[in-house]
Amino acid sequence: MNADNSQQACSGESAPASAKILPVDPHDVEFIAGLAGEIWRRHYADIISAAQIEYMLKQRYDPRVIRAELRRHDLWWDKLLVGDAITGFASYFLTAQPGEMKLDKLYVHQDHQREGYGGMLIAHACKRARVQGCSRLTLAVNKNNRIAISAYRKHGFQVSEAAMKDIGGGFVMDDYIMVKALESADEERGDR
Ligand SMILES: CC(C)(COP(=O)(O)OP(=O)(O)OC[C@H]1O[C@@H](n2cnc3c(N)ncnc32)[C@H](O)[C@@H]1OP(=O)(O)O)[C@@H](O)C(=O)NCCC(=O)NCCS
Repeated sequence: MNADNSQQACSGESAPASAKILPVDPHDVEFIAGLAGEIWRRHYADIISAAQIEYMLKQRYDPRVIRAELRRHDLWWDKLLVGDAITGFASYFLTAQPGEMKLDKLYVHQDHQREGYGGMLIAHACKRARVQGCSRLTLAVNKNNRIAISAYRKHGFQVSEAAMKDIGGGFVMDDYIMVKALESADEERGDR
């Protein structure tokens, strides 16, 4: 597990107070991989091919891949608990660019979308990024992922550029890069 992944819960701005965010534990990995499959097969069916969905699930959510990521110290995985149920998750990592955190994954189960949980996970990632001294949170989102682009705009991201990436297997990701500027941790605490 990440060394400084605090066990402290974090409340979002508008999400129900009963929900909380905790670090993903190695014991959660199989469940998260299954949850990712459920969300992805439903959400991306109209956006990318079924073959690309299965390829990307294997590439990004194989339990061995997630476990290896949990051992890194520059990458964090969070789970969203609604009651006792893991209902969503996010991961993010420090990039090679100074001051930059990348939101790599953000998923909320379809039964609980539009209830503020995506914003809650983003707020938690922003907090971690600021503690790490970052000034911006970036992400890549499929150009046809209308719902996610709308959610990201709502939560303060703006499109900065388009990016096409070869991910192997004959597949490409045709994305927008979106960026959210962050206040410094000092400003957040009112120290300056
Ligand atoms: C993107 C996602 C994480 C947002 O989570 P969420 O919990 O719904 O987000 P919030 O409740 O904080 O924000 C809701 C906003 O998201 C957008 N949104 C969410 N569901 C939507 C839907 N069915 N139709 C249109 N917009 C939608 C809207 O902008 C909405 O704001 P509004 O209700 O004021 O119109 C979630 O929709 C999701 O998991 N989508 C599928 C996976 C995905 O695309 N992940 C991002 C990969 S880059």
